[in-house]
Order: sequence, then C-alpha cells, then structure tokens
Amino acid sequence: MKDFEHYLADCVSWVEEGLHSYLSPAVKNVDKTLAEAMRYSVFQGGKRIRPMLVHASCLAAGGDLQTVLPVACAIEMIHSYSLIHDDLPAMDDDDMRRCNPSCHKKFSEAVAILAGDALQTLAFEILATTPGLSVEQRLVQITTLAKAAGWQGMVSGQSIDIAATENIAATTQILEMMHIKKTGALILASLTMGAYAANASDDLVNLLQQYGRITGLAFQVQDDIMDAISDSHTLGKKPGSDKKNGKATYVSVMGLEQAKGYLADLLKQSAEILESVKKETQPLQGLIHFLGKRIN
Ligand code: IPE
Ligand code: IPE
Ligand code: MG
Ligand code: MG
Ligand code: MG
Repeated sequence: MKDFEHYLADCVSWVEEGLHSYLSPAVKNVDKTLAEAMRYSVFQGGKRIRPMLVHASCLAAGGDLQTVLPVACAIEMIHSYSLIHDDLPAMDDDDMRRCNPSCHKKFSEAVAILAGDALQTLAFEILATTPGLSVEQRLVQITTLAKAAGWQGMVSGQSIDIAATENIAATTQILEMMHIKKTGALILASLTMGAYAANASDDLVNLLQQYGRITGLAFQVQDDIMDAISDSHTLGKKPGSDKKNGKATYVSVMGLEQAKGYLADLLKQSAEILESVKKETQPLQGLIHFLGKRIN
C-alpha cells in the first residue's frame, strides 16, 4: 500500500470523476446560478476524507470499488451541503471556506441555502438509483445516510452546537454527544455504507463501526484544535472562528493541551481497534497518523 497521502490523492481523483458525472455542466433544465453554486462548493478542494473512508471500508471488505463510487459521491454531497449551511450568517457566519469566499459570499444567502438543499436531495437520488446495488441494498444505504445526516445525527449535532454557543457551562458530556453527532455520524456512515455495499460480514462491519465512532469524534476534536492553532492557509479560513463565535469546543472546555492529549488517546483507541481487523487496514491506519500529524 502506498503512503497515505498518495492513497488519499487517488481517492480524490476517484471520487471527483464520479462527482463530475453527477454535476456535469451538460445537465439540462437546471437554473444556471444554482448549478454553478453547487459545483462551486463541491469542487473547491475538500480533502475527501469521507469518500476515502467509503473506499477504504470497501477495500477492507473486498468489495467492488466501482459499485461504491455513487455511495462515496452521495456522502460527499451531504458533506458539501452541510458546510454551505454551516458557513451561513445564521450559523457560523464564516466568509471563507477552503481559501475561497464561502458559497453565500460568492453567490447570495438564498442561492447558498438552495444549493445546500439541492445537494442534499441529489445525494438521496443517487443512492436510490445506484446501478450496482439491489433495491434492498439501496434502501439500506438510504436509511443509513438519512439517519446519519438528519435529526438523529448531523442536524441534531448542529442544533446542539448552536444551543451550546455562549454556554460557558458546556460539559465534556455535551461536547462528546455534539461531536459524535455533528461530525462523527457522517464519518461512521461512510465506513458503514462502504462495508454494506461490499457485503462485509457482520463482524467486520462491527469493527469498522467501532473504529468509525472513535475516529469520527477524534476528527472533530482535531478540527477544534486546528481552529485554535492553525494558520489561514491550512485552515482555508480565518483561524479563531470558534472563539469569536463563543463556541463550546474541546479547546474552550478543556484547554489546548488537554484537548491535544484527549485527541492522542482517541487515536490510540482507534489504532487498537484496527489490530483486530484481519483485513487491509493501511488506509484506516494512515488516517489516524494524518489526524495526529495535523496538530503537531
Ligand atoms: C470540515 O470537514 C468540517 C467538519 C465536519 C469538521 P473536513 O475537514 O473534512 O472538510 P474538507 O471537506 O476537507 O474541506
Ligand atoms: C462543522 O463543524 C460540522 C458540520 C458542518 C456538520 P465546524 O463548524 O467546526 O466546521 P468548520 O470548522 O466550519 O469546517
Ligand atoms: Mg459549525
Ligand atoms: Mg463552521
Ligand atoms: Mg471547526
């Protein structure tokens, strides 16, 4: 297996080919500005970690990568929609995303809201029409993504995030629940859906999910730390957005050094889970190192 950066770069090309096919400029009967806003947000240089996790869990389960490509595209569309809405003035009010004006700054708030809405529904349309999966498998995929992205998952996490803003009494229990839902749920779904599409055994699904739960939480802890210590170029937006907005984060609640220690603990736990997976896990190990390296 190539090193993680090469593997991730291959996953970027893999998923972007699929994303281009779904968001092709040749699509007819779509309002031009709406289509531009959708493409703008999807092709702005995201790391494509969630598609990479779909790819990696399919690989671990020995599945067909062509079959899971639509799954990876659907999850990345949900992710893109979530970031468009996350940046809106009513949410985090961030003007920049990935070193470019955020969608509502480039277009307008109304167009950004609609682009997010459209990407979300397109994700489910893609899953409903995935050629390589049976009707039953498609239903399982749709249900898994709906639960992860919706009111039991990401949307619920974002709602807790808004409620916790300015709440200086936010506890680590509240933070953990919020992070597991707002970011962890989609990361867990990426592993689960990749494994389901590859018809993984129950034992393998279970282990990949254990890894997904811990790594999903670690991902947002890492994001909180990055917001506090990173530079504009790496972050793609002004650092310190969480502090400015009075967000409850692991850094605001625990302090920077303890948050770093907590991230290290979580990454160690993820690595231990992978030791029980007797399949190809190098990409999943690579992600653990990648997350640890970003804050050092
Ligand atoms: C950022 O996610 C938002 C969170 C859920 C923490 P990523 O760090 O995966 O964002 P991109 O897609 O690579 O820009
Ligand atoms: C975003 O969390 C989580 C979702 C979009 C669901 P953040 O608000 O911390 O993400 P960034 O830092 O803006 O990318
Ligand atoms: Mg936010
Ligand atoms: Mg934000
Ligand atoms: Mg953040």
